[in-house]
Amino acid sequence: MTTSKEGAIKDPSLSEKGQLRIEWAAREMPVLNILKERFEKELPLAGLRISGCLHITTETANLAILLKAGGAEVAMCASNPLSTQDDVAAALVEHFEIPTYAINGEDTQSYYDHIHKVLDRKPHITLDDGADLVSTLHKERNELLKNIIGGTEETTTGVIRLNSMAQTGALKYPIIAVNEADTKHLFDNRYGTGQSTLDGITRATNVLWAGKKVVVIGYGWCGRGVASRAKGMGSQVIVTEIDAVRALEAAMDGFQVMPLSEAIIDGDIFISVTGNAHVIDGIHMAGMKNGAIIANSGHFNVEINLEKLQLITTSQRTVRPLVEEHMLNNGRTIYVLGEGRLINLAAAEGHPSNVMDMSFANQALSAEYIAKEGKNLEPNVYVVPKDIDQSVGRLKLDSMGIKIDQLTLEQEKYLSSWEVGT
Ligand code: ADE
Repeated sequence: MTTSKEGAIKDPSLSEKGQLRIEWAAREMPVLNILKERFEKELPLAGLRISGCLHITTETANLAILLKAGGAEVAMCASNPLSTQDDVAAALVEHFEIPTYAINGEDTQSYYDHIHKVLDRKPHITLDDGADLVSTLHKERNELLKNIIGGTEETTTGVIRLNSMAQTGALKYPIIAVNEADTKHLFDNRYGTGQSTLDGITRATNVLWAGKKVVVIGYGWCGRGVASRAKGMGSQVIVTEIDAVRALEAAMDGFQVMPLSEAIIDGDIFISVTGNAHVIDGIHMAGMKNGAIIANSGHFNVEINLEKLQLITTSQRTVRPLVEEHMLNNGRTIYVLGEGRLINLAAAEGHPSNVMDMSFANQALSAEYIAKEGKNLEPNVYVVPKDIDQSVGRLKLDSMGIKIDQLTLEQEKYLSSWEVGT
């Protein structure tokens, strides 16, 4: 057993505040609450050690508490140095006795030291958000592979990394791509990133969205969410894309579509949500108008080319928390938010609990699935089993008091026959 009060946190005295906020989030997480009742009775994770590398937020705390209720020994670390909510980390350690290694603002060395701390617990199951835990385990701690039954991955960026590991034969255990569940990406990526990105930019800058020209770079599920929420706030939204079908979809959703090299001329606020590197490059920032604001809501801080920005910056200062003003050598001034890290978690609280409820129900049920079936799975990346995805949808609908129709026997027969036509 792990003993209590282990971890690395900023300040244990924040624990009570964190506990209250974790409880507040739980009010909006009915599916996790239902699962908790079942997990407490059935203990599906008894005897298993679970190490998680996720954003340390109130929502993640509720997931960790659920997994512990299911019988697991849980240890957590952060999946981003700027997203940790220090009060939550304190409550996890001090009140819930879940070892947690996460300090907001930690440097890269401490970030990876903390990943090693949760790996030191010799996990049977890993939970990851961005694949830093899995990648560190494979590169530096492969003596741990013998204990591992399987893992889960939360986000698009992580799934892309894992797929490339699987394709080259580097991946050594099965991982369920939680992101691929419909009840995850259709809601969390779209409505969660959509709302929390605008929330983060608003908290950092207090800008008025109405009338602003907002350039959304990338029209995946996150980009779709950000674009539709900005439109709802009265912004004129321009979408940039590299994929023809997504660009077409953006155009038919009513957005202006153009290359970024054209959008820079008019844009007031630029938001990258691509998962790719240097999509906002030096040449773009040099062409932006005076006062332009730049934020990233993609997983890693690679989307804005900050090195190139330094080359054209003559002076800079922090004008508000998480707002860096850059005076450029062309005489203009532009602003980068949250050091280019994902702004919804750096400046706001991440996706609201109500969508994380579904994402983390998929996480918990996938962990239960791995506990049962992991030994029979080859090392590869797997989609969340359809029945888990559907059950999360059903539980969420129930919690919202929404009833839906069922196929009649006649309709079921019709759908399974091929003889009947016009
Ligand atoms: N990813 C995005 N929002 C999040 C949240 N609130 N908690 C954990 N992970 C997240």
